Amino acid sequence: MLTDIFLILIAYLLGSLNAAVILSRVMGFTDPRTQGSGNPGATNVLRLGGKKAAIITLLLDVLKGVLAVLLANLAGLGAMSTALVGFAAFLGHLFPIFLHFRGGKGVATAFGVILVFNGWAGLATLLTWLIVAFISRYSSLSALTASLLAPLYLYLSGAPAPYWGITLLISALLIWRHRANIQKLCNGQESKIGAKKSPDT
Ligand code: G3P
Repeated sequence: MLTDIFLILIAYLLGSLNAAVILSRVMGFTDPRTQGSGNPGATNVLRLGGKKAAIITLLLDVLKGVLAVLLANLAGLGAMSTALVGFAAFLGHLFPIFLHFRGGKGVATAFGVILVFNGWAGLATLLTWLIVAFISRYSSLSALTASLLAPLYLYLSGAPAPYWGITLLISALLIWRHRANIQKLCNGQESKIGAKKSPDT
């Protein structure tokens, strides 16, 4: 039980490390919280810091979710505690202790968590994101569609109930975090992947 709580805490701290903000300081581009969509994530880093910075941000944010759940697996935690470890990494990204609890939307970190929960469900989620992104060029719409389907993919892959249950909660939080994007999508004001600026900024 102590190990479970310890790993949940570690996962939260890991999730709290925001790659976009750290890289903006290391690589010298504008803090993504202050420009573009204001979101410290890969999509906004692409607008402000270019492709290389965006890819590194994406990989590091995915890695947080992957590492957290891998640690839980290595420690032999049960499905419920493993699900909570994944959730803690995701929550760390959304509400980072190091950034006054104002973090990102959590798409990449959630993907990392889902990928280790179940590889097939992770691949299906990634494929969903890629197909919607290819067709629409909207990162937010791709993330919303993928997050709506991810719990179903986990369920269909036979993942334990705590995995798809916690992913339902993650999806609900992801949709809530995208409420400004949803409004912009409805108004036709959402910026497409790679566009330098959000139309309203
Ligand atoms: O992963 C975040 C993406 O879905 C939206 O990012 O910067 O356009 O709000 P952004």
